[in-house]
Amino acid sequence: AEGDAEKGEKVFKKCKACHAVGEDAKNKVGPHLNGIIGAPAGQNADFKYSEALTTMAADGLVWDEESMSAFLTKPKDFMKGTKMSFAGLRKEADVANVIAYLAGFE
Ligand code: HEM
Repeated sequence: AEGDAEKGEKVFKKCKACHAVGEDAKNKVGPHLNGIIGAPAGQNADFKYSEALTTMAADGLVWDEESMSAFLTKPKDFMKGTKMSFAGLRKEADVANVIAYLAGFE
């Protein structure tokens, strides 16, 4: 689904307590998300991921639109044992829009 990056910026407010993007983005409770779309999971060397995420990354998880949509819809169903304490985005459009927003950060 084609997302709208501008709307996605608003959705990203739900992520901001834990994630940063953009120039000088730092890791917070969660890793910074620059370059995350299309990237293999768990690549941030300065962030301590859960065993769940590390295992899925070793099994080849890549954050493409499909996997990212599944994760953001129901994080704890997609990744049992993740330490991302986020219930998930209920609206399909919010998911597509936040992905479009994230795709703008290399
Ligand atoms: C991990 C996205 C909300 C905390 C991740 C990852 C993504 C992501 C893509 C995997 C990163 C990687 O593989 O390097 C998002 C988005 C959110 C959101 C788009 C909003 C819609 C939150 C919130 C929190 C949080 C609100 C804190 C309460 C974390 C943590 C991890 C993580 C701790 C590491 C998970 C683990 O190691 O199991 N997030 N997140 N995230 N996020 Fe979020």
